[in-house]
Amino acid sequence: MTFPADFLWGAATSSHQIEGSHDADGRGESVWDVFARVPGAIEGGGDASIADDSYRRWREDIDLLSELGVGAYRFSVGWSRIMPEGRGRVEQRGLDHYEAFVDELLERGIQPVLTLNHWDMPQALMAHEGWVGRESVDAFTEFAVAVAGRLGDRVPWWITQNEPWIIQLLGYQLGLHAPGIADLGKAVQAGHHVMLAHGAAYDALQGLTSGKIGTALSLFPCDPASDSAEDAAAAWGSDGYVNRWFLDPLLGDGYPDDMRANWERAIGRPLDFIQEGDEAAIGARHDFLGINYYTRRVMAAAEPGATRPFPWQVVGPSGDVSRTDEGWEIVPDSLRQLLVRLSVDYPGIPLMITENGAVEGSAPLHDGRVRDVRRTRYLRGHLAAVEQAIAEGADVVGYMHWSLLDNFEWSLGYRPRFGLVHVDYATGTRTIKDSARHYAEIVAANGLVDWRDDTAVG
Ligand code: FCB
Repeated sequence: MTFPADFLWGAATSSHQIEGSHDADGRGESVWDVFARVPGAIEGGGDASIADDSYRRWREDIDLLSELGVGAYRFSVGWSRIMPEGRGRVEQRGLDHYEAFVDELLERGIQPVLTLNHWDMPQALMAHEGWVGRESVDAFTEFAVAVAGRLGDRVPWWITQNEPWIIQLLGYQLGLHAPGIADLGKAVQAGHHVMLAHGAAYDALQGLTSGKIGTALSLFPCDPASDSAEDAAAAWGSDGYVNRWFLDPLLGDGYPDDMRANWERAIGRPLDFIQEGDEAAIGARHDFLGINYYTRRVMAAAEPGATRPFPWQVVGPSGDVSRTDEGWEIVPDSLRQLLVRLSVDYPGIPLMITENGAVEGSAPLHDGRVRDVRRTRYLRGHLAAVEQAIAEGADVVGYMHWSLLDNFEWSLGYRPRFGLVHVDYATGTRTIKDSARHYAEIVAANGLVDWRDDTAVG
């Protein structure tokens, strides 16, 4: 069993989570700078004004990628570094930074996988409530054109939006992420504009790059908690909410009817912000699909009378299942099933795993080694699932592990550590973890190699 010869092995990060240097080179304020100042918004009270200091230490980060031997790096361009006032003026110093960065990656034989919106919208765009306002579509397109105008000739992979559902859910429905809006109706409207902006940017980029353009969706397979017809319906409903609501307009025939009805019932009015022609402007604009996969959802029908927007609820797996330090169930076979399902339901679209990873809190021990053995197991389990899915016919072109570095995990602050590389936040010191060393062996072999747990000390 082997991966295709040109399989892209990589690692992923995002601008706001690693860069710091929030006032360097004319950067404007982003929604996350403002949100982090809301008391209680960030666990531990931190913010990302320093984070991994990657805006200054980027050469060191590229050295780490070289040590891993990966052929690709997924990173994002800080939106407010390029468009400090949201619209109009383009900050050339921001573009200079990313140009130097991209050129160095290419020099080292590492393909840039460039994300445009990884959640750090310029605060100035909140004048129209961010993604709630339809103006956001034009604002995003201006940003995309500015970046592609400089880098379009050399970046082979473009990701317009990172996780439309999570932006909609955490940013506008629950208010747990920037910009902190909690309104069901505004949430579904914001999500639509995120999707529309993908379509608009795809079209605008056509003359500017010959690279491949896609979106990264957070996909959660939804399994019923029991054999009952009610739980099966709950799982299908939930699949409409988190997966098909985004997959169908991107890759299929517009928004799915069952979920449109659920949304209209939940907000008590028609989704009239979806204008004539919008679905056509989103669809059929995909050179590849990015998949962020972490875990699945186990679903049951909501109890009668429950005051929930939708008639289903997450009940989680029962029994003694394995979990990451953040409590997420570790279930690699759901990734295999997801990849196979996508290749059947939406044939002909190359799939790239744009995120997959786990929280594990290990730190360097007395000998300097970070024995993050559970991350290694997670990685191996999921790569075996990818390999199996390929054997079953899924067209998977690459795997970007989340994350290259421990970093600022949004409202959870710095506690969850997702990195292949440990970061000491007090000093910025990077330490390659055991998982990264094993990943380097896999990358070099272009497939899983034997592994022995040698973590015993002494
Ligand atoms: C995803 C985000 C990424 C990171 C991981 C753990 O939802 O895209 O930035 O926070 O989760």
